[in-house]
Amino acid sequence: MSDFEYANAPESKAIANISPNYGLFIGGKFVDPKKGKSFSTINPATEELLSKVGYGDKSDIDAAVRSARAAYTKIWSKMPAKERGKYLYRIARIMQERAREFAVVETLDNGKPIRESRDTDIPLAAAHFFYHAGWADKLEYAGFGSKPKPLGVVGQIIPWNFPLLMLAWKIAPALAAGNTVVLKPAETTPLTALLFAEVCQQAGLPDGVVNIVTGDGITGAALVNHPDINKVAFTGSTEVGKAIARSISATKKTATLELGGKAANLVFEDAAVDEAVEGIINGIFFNQGHVCCAGSRLIIQENVADEVLEKLKKRMSLIRVGDPMDKNTDLGAINSKEQLNKIEEISKTGDAEGANRWSPDIKLPTKGFWYPPTIFTGVTQSHRIAREEIFGPVLSVLTFRTPAEAIEKANNTMYGLSAGIWSDKGAKVLWAAKQLKAGVIWSNTFNKFDPASPFGGYKESGWGREGGRHGLAGYLISDSKVNK
Ligand code: NAI
Ligand code: MG
Repeated sequence: MSDFEYANAPESKAIANISPNYGLFIGGKFVDPKKGKSFSTINPATEELLSKVGYGDKSDIDAAVRSARAAYTKIWSKMPAKERGKYLYRIARIMQERAREFAVVETLDNGKPIRESRDTDIPLAAAHFFYHAGWADKLEYAGFGSKPKPLGVVGQIIPWNFPLLMLAWKIAPALAAGNTVVLKPAETTPLTALLFAEVCQQAGLPDGVVNIVTGDGITGAALVNHPDINKVAFTGSTEVGKAIARSISATKKTATLELGGKAANLVFEDAAVDEAVEGIINGIFFNQGHVCCAGSRLIIQENVADEVLEKLKKRMSLIRVGDPMDKNTDLGAINSKEQLNKIEEISKTGDAEGANRWSPDIKLPTKGFWYPPTIFTGVTQSHRIAREEIFGPVLSVLTFRTPAEAIEKANNTMYGLSAGIWSDKGAKVLWAAKQLKAGVIWSNTFNKFDPASPFGGYKESGWGREGGRHGLAGYLISDSKVNK
């Protein structure tokens, strides 16, 4: 094939008005952390400093929880549901109006391609607010009794892979159900949450309904252990999810935990191969593979494996890796040095345990954190790269002979978040979907998200569901429980 050079198509940074310093958002205002500490957030594609944000400790968490409690008792729980809904609609509309600014800030802080933040993260985040705005005054028809009640104050902890979208998954249903929140963003990606705090001010949201305390795992643990929160909502690693479950076990706090995954993407012999290849690419290389529901285990029927792999490698050679702000970029920067180290470490075990590594010949930028799109073939069930979440652009390929073997391999994991099925036969798709132990199953597509659709996992992938009517259940007490 002859060279086809793309001209650069950079998105402008001019719209992103990132302040050199941010305080914590408590009681509707930006305030300095009590101990005056701060930490840096950088652009992982360039390693440039973007801003210094406040480091919240136990005393700041306490102030935020007090502010959320006061807002809950005095304002939010007393407000007619229809009025709560209006605030959520207002927030959703402002997010849409400021979508470009959000997309640019997200890409600078996270390293994901602007195409993805612009077309996926930000529109979906706004959609979550629109969707839940609609529920606010209809909760008595949601199937949780005639007078479902909010829980109170919710502590929410989110990861760095979809910073604004995870904020929306957490805050929108909590507020719609009448709760107030204290949210802790991830340490490498705090900026869109702070921009969201400005949106709360702009929408005139009553002070204290949303509080945002930036910090690290210690800040997160202080929130989990605060005696005056009623629930913890967490998305992140299984390890921290288990620690949270242990810390709240002797309390009345409830929890939803969205944890890791190692999704099987099953390609049957009758699948439309070109479509399947696009789905495999999307499944593992979307968002640099920093996706809990990523299709990180490709399981192909043996008689079509050669054809699928040949087409997959050809397609991988066309992936454009580089400047996340370039509108042509497909694969951006790895979010942090720590995550890059983890991807490198687990991938090396693939080499050591005898799998075969392949990457297209792609030049990586010299500054920042990068990993090439990579596949391992000859992977067996016992390899670490088949069992552990790599959370990067690395695909493990296995094969199967019979449909029963496909299901057995797919379910042989401690996780159960998502799965994909590629087949031309509806009956086979339905049969496989029934056997797979995964919370979300896509057929002839992958990574499709909708606020109306519940998301969550089996086994070590977590507790509870987010999104849809099922997600609301985690933020409400039904009549029967209230009367007890
Ligand atoms: P992590 O689970 O440590 O961090 C997620 C969030 O939890 C962050 O806001 C962090 O500050 C907070 N946190 C950390 N320790 C805490 C504690 N003891 N109590 C309360 N909050 C705490 O994830 P990390 O270290 O960023 O990534 C490690 C691995 O976790 C990744 O390589 C990936 O495999 C997995 N992960 C999975 C995610 C998912 O969506 N399922 C998201 C992020 C990471
Ligand atoms: Mg950052």
